[in-house]
Amino acid sequence: MRGSGVTTIAHVSDLHLAPVPFPFGEGLKPALGWINWRRKPDAHDPAIAARVAEAVRAAAPDQVAMTGDLIELGQASEYGAAAEALAAFGPPCRLSWAPGNHDVYTVRAVPRLREALGGWLAPETGPQNAADIRGHFPRLVVVGRVALVTLCSGLPTWLFSAEGEIGAAQLARFDAALSSLDRTAHLPVIAIHHPPHAPGLSPLKRLRDGDVMMRLLARHRCPLVLHGHLHTAGETTATVDGFAITLAGAPSASSAGHHGDDPAGYSLVHVDEALGWRLERRAV
Ligand SMILES: [Fe+2]
Ligand SMILES: [Fe+2]
Repeated sequence: MRGSGVTTIAHVSDLHLAPVPFPFGEGLKPALGWINWRRKPDAHDPAIAARVAEAVRAAAPDQVAMTGDLIELGQASEYGAAAEALAAFGPPCRLSWAPGNHDVYTVRAVPRLREALGGWLAPETGPQNAADIRGHFPRLVVVGRVALVTLCSGLPTWLFSAEGEIGAAQLARFDAALSSLDRTAHLPVIAIHHPPHAPGLSPLKRLRDGDVMMRLLARHRCPLVLHGHLHTAGETTATVDGFAITLAGAPSASSAGHHGDDPAGYSLVHVDEALGWRLERRAV
């Protein structure tokens, strides 16, 4: 929180770090994923993500919200690169990571994720599961006037699916975390990879329990969701049970601006003493 009394959260998403080695011995889903990645070799550039990290550091936000898809296929070398990339944005206490579908690509990738990125996971308060990291979420960080809540929608899915799911157990913990907040002092800001409301999105890319989440957000009067996954800097407002919820997307932070993706950038969310918020888009 700065001298001005404004709390600033930086929103960054979808690093999709390259290069991606061919996933020998990893099974069908990573092999098909690699072929898909090779079809658009110019889509993402890690040098652009490094420029975004530099710009975010210079902006000196109070906290960074990173909404997932750090990598592609869940290989050990990719997680190593992800750890380096996250460290460039700030230490784990200053960076809240909401994992995406590519971060939890297969069941066999989950132990590698825990080993390389365990420092960016909150303690596992939910049921322990060797094939699922959702027990580590939600993560609640109170900074200045903001209560930043990160959810995990990434879980291993079937072959052609990029779906996400929060799950009933994580939703119950999320409900409890929101109930615990002092709403006169803090504005809840929610960070999640998959948008909970995305009309027209393919069923293969959706958040399965998005409707349940939206009703929960309305009940707790949460006005702002930061998300990734769509690779666009879109902004949608949905009214649920009479309450308006803004869903703010982020472009991929490594996007070269090809194939219909928005060019790379990041956002700053400024929250004032009266808990009013403002979104500022920044290009790199
Ligand atoms: Fe993505
Ligand atoms: Fe995604």
